[in-house]
Amino acid sequence: MPVRQLPQDLVNRIAAGEVVERPASVVKELIENAIDAGARRIDVAIAGGGLGLIRVADDGSGMTPDDLSLAVERHATSKLAGDDLSRIVTLGFRGEALPSIGAVARLSIQSRTAGAAEAFAIEVDAGRKSGLKPAALAYGTRVEVRDLFYATPARLKFMKSERVETAAIADIVKRVALAHPEIAFSLVTRERAALRLEACPPGLIDYGLSRLGRILGEDFVQDALPVRASRGAISVEGFAGLPTLHRPNGLQLYLIVNGRPVRDKPLVGTARAAYGDLVPNGRYPMLALFLTMPPEEVDVNVHPAKTELRFRDPIAVRSLLIGALRDALGAAGHRATASLSQAVLERVARPDRPIPPQGFNQPQAQAGVRSFGFADRAQEPLQPLAEPSGDTRGNATTGDALGAGYPLGAARAQLQDTFIIAETDDALVIVDQHAAHERLVYERLKHSLANGGISRQLLLIPEVVELDGEAASLLVGAAAELERLGLLVEAFGASAVLVREVPGLLGTCNVKGLLSDVASTLAEEEDATGNRLLAEGLDHALSTMACHGSVRGGRRLTPEEMNALLRDMEKTPFSGQCNHGRPTYIELKLADIEKLFQRR
Ligand SMILES: Nc1ncnc2c1ncn2[C@@H]1O[C@H](COP(=O)(O)OP(=O)(O)OP(=O)(O)O)[C@@H](O)[C@H]1O
Ligand SMILES: [Mg+2]
Repeated sequence: MPVRQLPQDLVNRIAAGEVVERPASVVKELIENAIDAGARRIDVAIAGGGLGLIRVADDGSGMTPDDLSLAVERHATSKLAGDDLSRIVTLGFRGEALPSIGAVARLSIQSRTAGAAEAFAIEVDAGRKSGLKPAALAYGTRVEVRDLFYATPARLKFMKSERVETAAIADIVKRVALAHPEIAFSLVTRERAALRLEACPPGLIDYGLSRLGRILGEDFVQDALPVRASRGAISVEGFAGLPTLHRPNGLQLYLIVNGRPVRDKPLVGTARAAYGDLVPNGRYPMLALFLTMPPEEVDVNVHPAKTELRFRDPIAVRSLLIGALRDALGAAGHRATASLSQAVLERVARPDRPIPPQGFNQPQAQAGVRSFGFADRAQEPLQPLAEPSGDTRGNATTGDALGAGYPLGAARAQLQDTFIIAETDDALVIVDQHAAHERLVYERLKHSLANGGISRQLLLIPEVVELDGEAASLLVGAAAELERLGLLVEAFGASAVLVREVPGLLGTCNVKGLLSDVASTLAEEEDATGNRLLAEGLDHALSTMACHGSVRGGRRLTPEEMNALLRDMEKTPFSGQCNHGRPTYIELKLADIEKLFQRR
């Protein structure tokens, strides 16, 4: 279809606003144009975070000289046949991207259609259009954008650091690449490893996985649950990460609607809602979901940058998505904690329900309860967190010690290797050992940081941690700050880091998991604060690290260890909540227990 100028009444119906907000928006528009042109390979090169140079080359249909000349004019597009904005099947439709870019930068386009004798080039410099010139180009289209926003210095002031803009570009390339596995992509930046993605053969589940692995990591592929459901003409398929794969931000949450990657807030909210509290508060699941529906079911003409959408029937989309995700998660045998605690509450509230006779003295509990009572011994001694302070620890070392005087009482048992049951003079206390220990480690780290620094332990063998280039460069960029936090990292090739030391308080921890979580934290903090890890970000990073240094649930503790943990909690500020805001313990007053049994 030739490029044509849209009539004014149609122009008036197109969502107006700023198309080009930052370098990543330019990259997005140019890649989308290449996809619309049927490209099978798209190569992106940038310099200076995209502010210096953005080059996008494709092997798509190319443009005739006439089309090329018209394409840089406002509201000129080849993608709208009639005047129907409700049935858009291409990524572009407004004829706004190229002129918007040309208005604020030095834009040059070379293009050649299949079978044409030669290629042509055109330039637009801050809105001034040149004439057509012959060019040397074998096929497709090659767009170069230099000195972005040089024509609008006020805009330039709002740009974040080069690293942040580069990261935003890499994110966009990954999102689009995930949505179009049939296309080969590459991203080359001056300072960092290129992203190279070969084209994958068709067939979502198979091809999707190989590209998914490159973009979301092999961990995701291993722990991804297939999702597939449809209702009427709307369908969803893809992969959902296990709830345990949660991340501190939504960067690993990929939603694609009719081939268009979106960061639509309501849609992200729906995905998070489906996980419920399987994922801790404030954390995000990892997901790659492809929604497909007839074009008239979704309005893409909502936002000037086309990042948001409006569904004709949002409720249908929401319930399809939630149902599909719940099914996938349910099939994996993971029960929602919400429904679990609901069941417990119901049982407590309705004592008429039969409860199997089960005394506290019976060592083997009923199905589902693996251990009840003190363990003989722990697999590996739990490092005491507090400096030994004689008075408390000394008399709390046996299961028989009375809780007299101690707010959290004396440890009586360990449940499921996860919960400590303690008794005070007037209450029963249940402690989530992981949550509690995590809080203690966090407070301890904070205290050390404020008082002369966090002590580090040298790893016996420095560990090479493979990450993606993004994460690696974030970590290396923040090496000085991380060193203050007790984490010694060095660059190791383009997409890995070498870890030499970790905070002593963390004990033996999963270094890879630690690093990738800290990198996610950095990505998130950087978004908010630009380049530096400010006080708040520092706290956030510490809390991320604390999570890794904590006794996980599932660890058998000795009575001594349990009591030591209780005494530590009593001495530590804020120990009633873990770093994710969940309670670390609950207390059931004896009086309330008596009420439950109708003794009062
Ligand atoms: N890489 C390309 N290959 C072939 N044709 C292209 C390419 N880039 C742009 N064009 C042509 O130039 C026209 C204008 O592009 P532009 O991005 O400004 O608008 P659009 O894609 O039609 O709509 P939108 O503003 O929503 O992106 C397109 O309609 C298309 O015909
Ligand atoms: Mg376009």
